[in-house]
Amino acid sequence: MATQVEVYAGAVDKGLEGVVACTTGISSIVDATLMYRGYTIEDLSAHSNFEETSFLLWEDRLPKEGDLNAFRKELAENMALTPEQVKQLKALPTKGVHPMAWLRTAVSMLALWDADAQATDPAAQRRVAIRLVAKMGTLVALFDRNRNGKDYVAPKPDKSIGWNFLYMLKGEEPNAEMAKDFDTCLILHADHELNCSAFAARVTASSLSDIYSAVTSAISALKGPLHGGANEQVMLMLKKIGSMDAARTWIKEALAGKQKVMGFGHRVYKNGDPRAKVLAQLSQKLTAKSGEGHWYEMSKEIDDVMQKEKGLLPNVDFYSATVYYAMGIPIDIYTPIFAVSRVSGWLAHIFEQYSKNRIYRPRGEWIGKEGLKWVPPAQR
Ligand code: COA
Repeated sequence: MATQVEVYAGAVDKGLEGVVACTTGISSIVDATLMYRGYTIEDLSAHSNFEETSFLLWEDRLPKEGDLNAFRKELAENMALTPEQVKQLKALPTKGVHPMAWLRTAVSMLALWDADAQATDPAAQRRVAIRLVAKMGTLVALFDRNRNGKDYVAPKPDKSIGWNFLYMLKGEEPNAEMAKDFDTCLILHADHELNCSAFAARVTASSLSDIYSAVTSAISALKGPLHGGANEQVMLMLKKIGSMDAARTWIKEALAGKQKVMGFGHRVYKNGDPRAKVLAQLSQKLTAKSGEGHWYEMSKEIDDVMQKEKGLLPNVDFYSATVYYAMGIPIDIYTPIFAVSRVSGWLAHIFEQYSKNRIYRPRGEWIGKEGLKWVPPAQR
């Protein structure tokens, strides 16, 4: 007899499509409009900055000037790694290691140095959150430098998270325009309703496990090519296609072979991802500036084929790939950048989960065998 579980028919084995798993006030998607705490992504990406956006996601209001300065100061004080952390993190293997695998381990390691890691009072949990947002970019930059035999570059406390990420990664100060454009990318990636990694964070938090565990779960979910890992795959695909002339045929063949074209499609957006529109403009500007406008042109061509052939629109990962490429960022660092930004959204979700928690414990509809009897190995 199958277990009697009332199931939402449309969702079983369909990735929980259409299932509302919790109430949330952090970000919303209505048709092609994405809002963080009621502000559209277009408004925030045009006027805000990553620090202010993170404050908004956590506190449910835009900060007053004094609040923002204090928040920036807290982040700045927590951006650098201690010499002991640098030493231990540098000892981790990097050869043949994917940056997201390293980041997953490194974030988990940070918990071992944090006296607040297991704390349950809100003030201590907030300190943990500040440390995580402040240090995520520092970790990613350390990984890339270390694997290339370069020394750790300490962040500059008077500069933003985005500026410092580029500075620590490359070892040279970014110009103001690049820092601003990168900051826009961080704003665009900061949260996205109940996406796979935010849900993973919430599921872990719902057992009342600690923040580091929940963020490590989220990083693990983000790593996959169907989620954050798609941006890296997009650039690898563009390089494989190689030229504008080959793009149309390559994509048509991929579709004929039932391949997924990375950077297209979305579970929720059916009329376009608003983040992709902002990123397409940035891609056009930055690839032209770097003298490699063909990457944008190829992307446009693929965008066109995908719409005509499959009715699919680009998601956040499609144009961000060429944006980062034009910024001179190594391709396998694109997904870690997603984590540098999305950590602020994950933390907002973890806090929201703690604030009205009940453990996530869904049911599985039984489709396996029943009534079997154990027999000794010789009789099987
Ligand atoms: N390339 C080609 N076909 C695609 C596609 C893509 N990128 N995305 C969806 N489709 C097709 C599927 O093959 C399926 O077609 P079918 O009904 O003929 O079998 C249909 O569109 C529905 O796709 P499905 O995979 O069921 O949608 P989903 O809601 O489960 O998955 C994504 C959503 C985002 C995971 C999916 O679109 C995808 O894999 N995209 C590529 C990876 C990506 O860019 N991820 C980043 C997301 S922000």
